[in-house]
Amino acid sequence: MSDLKRRTFFKLGLFGAAISLVKPSKAVEIISDASTKKFVIAPKKIVISTWNHGIAANRAAWEVLSSKGTALDAVEKGVKITESDMSNRSVGGGGRPDRSGHVTLDACIMDEKSRCGAVAYLEGIKHPISVARGVMDRTQHVMLVGDGARDFALDYEYEKIKTPIKEVKKDWKKWKKENKELFKKPEINHENHDTIGMLALDAFGNLSGACTTSGWAYKMPGRVGDSPIIGAGLFIDNEVGAACATGMGEAIIRIAGSHTVVELMRQGKSPEEACKLAVERIIAKHDDLTNLQCGFIALDKYGNYGGYSVYKGFNYALKTENRDEMVDAKYNRSWE
Ligand code: GLY
Repeated sequence: MSDLKRRTFFKLGLFGAAISLVKPSKAVEIISDASTKKFVIAPKKIVISTWNHGIAANRAAWEVLSSKGTALDAVEKGVKITESDMSNRSVGGGGRPDRSGHVTLDACIMDEKSRCGAVAYLEGIKHPISVARGVMDRTQHVMLVGDGARDFALDYEYEKIKTPIKEVKKDWKKWKKENKELFKKPEINHENHDTIGMLALDAFGNLSGACTTSGWAYKMPGRVGDSPIIGAGLFIDNEVGAACATGMGEAIIRIAGSHTVVELMRQGKSPEEACKLAVERIIAKHDDLTNLQCGFIALDKYGNYGGYSVYKGFNYALKTENRDEMVDAKYNRSWE
């Protein structure tokens, strides 16, 4: 049986009927099923991901989507590109450490069946996202943390990596010297702080997402942010849409950010409106917005997308059949 036959989309003989039946037609395309030679209506494949590093990650994800792969495989492959980039200081093994010099990695993944897996506080493994997928595929659990996550990764022979790398260690030592007074306080630095969150819709009409980060630079040992927390850093409901978050994890967790965005889409909000309302909820819950940058991106089941952040400066990468570019997210306020 071909992949296409397994799709759940409509099969119609007449183009006119097809177009009038599918209202959100912006987000579908008519394609020819190679095996049956019939025309079928498929959702338009799309992948979006946070920040500039999303461009390279989206391209890797697109290779999977355009060869009839699943959104789940696409998002895993996509964010692995960012995790492999040792010049990236906020994702993967090149990331900045916590205050005690340990690079601890957080990641989660979720698919169209609401299956999910996550790892937090994982050290010395190259692809936390694949370990998160391993937790989902190979265990009855959703999340493994710390030594347990590492033991699981080593048992299944996920690739190891030595952290921190030389440059990161040097920066950390300098930071320690210059920030003696901060050393015991949970202060944060938003500039060092971003995540790759990726959402994809495949040709079968299924959504998946992935999120991975080294977390807050020089965070307190033991700190875990939103990125590995299903419902905070990432949430998928295949009936509705998908959302993921970037920025100050503590604020995102407080409003169960990504779940909130998906629920707002369920109530009929567009992806951008849903992200905006979630950002406004964060703003309303915090008296002090100093350095409180958070952003969301969202994708609905028809392939409509959007993003929104507290402060100006958040952007996300978009890849479709015809587009491969950065999009500036709308925002609530400027930094000044
Ligand atoms: N959003 C990533 C973190 O707070 O760790």
